[in-house]
Amino acid sequence: MLPHRQYLIKVETQTVPAQVTQLKHKVDVNTLDSFAARTLQLNEVGYCNLSTSEPIVFDSYADNRDTGAFVIIDRVTNGTVGAGMIEFGLRRATNVHWQALDVNKEARAGLKHQKPCVLWFTGLSGSGKSTIANLVEKRLFAQGRHTYILDGDNVRHGLNQDLGFTDADRVENICRVAEASKLFVNSGVIVLVSFISPFRSERRMARELMQDGEFIEIYVDTPLEVCRARDPKGLYARADAGQIKNFTGIDSPYEAPEAP
Ligand code: ADX
Repeated sequence: MLPHRQYLIKVETQTVPAQVTQLKHKVDVNTLDSFAARTLQLNEVGYCNLSTSEPIVFDSYADNRDTGAFVIIDRVTNGTVGAGMIEFGLRRATNVHWQALDVNKEARAGLKHQKPCVLWFTGLSGSGKSTIANLVEKRLFAQGRHTYILDGDNVRHGLNQDLGFTDADRVENICRVAEASKLFVNSGVIVLVSFISPFRSERRMARELMQDGEFIEIYVDTPLEVCRARDPKGLYARADAGQIKNFTGIDSPYEAPEAP
């Protein structure tokens, strides 16, 4: 279980996308002691907040074992990866409303005479994502388009400076950037996103945040050996020497897009 990854949750006949927004603690099943944790491994048990993307009908498990229980399904494999019991609904789900605004995405885009979208560059470190994104942005700029680049290395200096390179941190990294790029699209801008974004699941989540045709996935398909030979930041050498852990393509996975 990775926080903020989208899974499907099934409560009785309802199946909806949902994420664990916060893992409060892990529970030792033998002693029932609580432990701090950020993720859950196979057979582990935890206490968490869930956020569903649509309202569901439910009861507390104490009141009804059928409408108070759920299973969690992996969206890529369709396998059941977890099960849970519901304690209570959180008030924030019903107390925060959507504020309607009169100047909308279409109006902002019309002012700029352009169709806002996300050009999402994915690929290994050193594959050339940022180099290509930079060239594409220069072309668009020369054509009078209003653009912005969200680059992994740069965003990790600010908005995401609290994140590292574990699977959980990469999921969080991409979820935040997907939300940020949605704000840019709403502002009428063509946004170029250049992140390794190694997991299919989070790239799909980013796609689903946008409207049809707004998310354009670009796979910078440079072989690992070429990236390693280029090694522009000297990181492959350090990863090969065991000085950097969880390096994409070495000891951290990269899931190539299926239909970029
Ligand atoms: S992502 O996997 O979470 O999407 P992101 O694109 O933000 O990664 O950051 C990748 C950049 O961080 C790389 O270009 C590289 O410069 C640097 N980096 C530092 N440590 C690692 C690591 N363990 N794995 C991959 N990139 C790393």
